[in-house]
Amino acid sequence: MTAPVATSRRNFLKAGWKLGATILAAAAGWTVYESLRPLGGSGKGGPIKLGSTATYAAGTATYVPEGRLFVANTGTTILAISQKCPHLGCRVPFCDSSGRFECPCHGSIFDIGGEWIEGPSPVGMTQYPVTADVDGALVVDTSKEIAGPPRGANQYFSPPKGPNCQPKG
Ligand code: FES
Repeated sequence: MTAPVATSRRNFLKAGWKLGATILAAAAGWTVYESLRPLGGSGKGGPIKLGSTATYAAGTATYVPEGRLFVANTGTTILAISQKCPHLGCRVPFCDSSGRFECPCHGSIFDIGGEWIEGPSPVGMTQYPVTADVDGALVVDTSKEIAGPPRGANQYFSPPKGPNCQPKG
């Protein structure tokens, strides 16, 4: 009489594990999809306050989710760079170890100024104008796109700081 109960408990636990694994797989799939899916538009929202220049250390790119852009300090210039890859629109993260933008979709690489270095992207990354308001705080206008620099611009090019984040294809 106890065997059916044990079998029932075993089946219940098996079903629980399967359900848990399915939920985990769905969550992982959604996370990958969200991080790689092409973006429809970018910015288009108008001005966004970025704060003081001192907030952005030289050689870093800080993500601003409100504008779906990065504020990059090249060491000489503060730039607002769209996260949307000029190739097919994937989200391009900044790789802290290499100091470059590396597209996970097809391998385009851009320097800290968003200039094309390698890969299928036809141009560098789109930018937005950055100005200072009356208090001296930086403001980016996401309603005005600046076309990415042509290949070979190389104004901000420097050798990689370290290893790439994306594997070389
Ligand atoms: S979408 Fe970035 S390289 Fe293709």
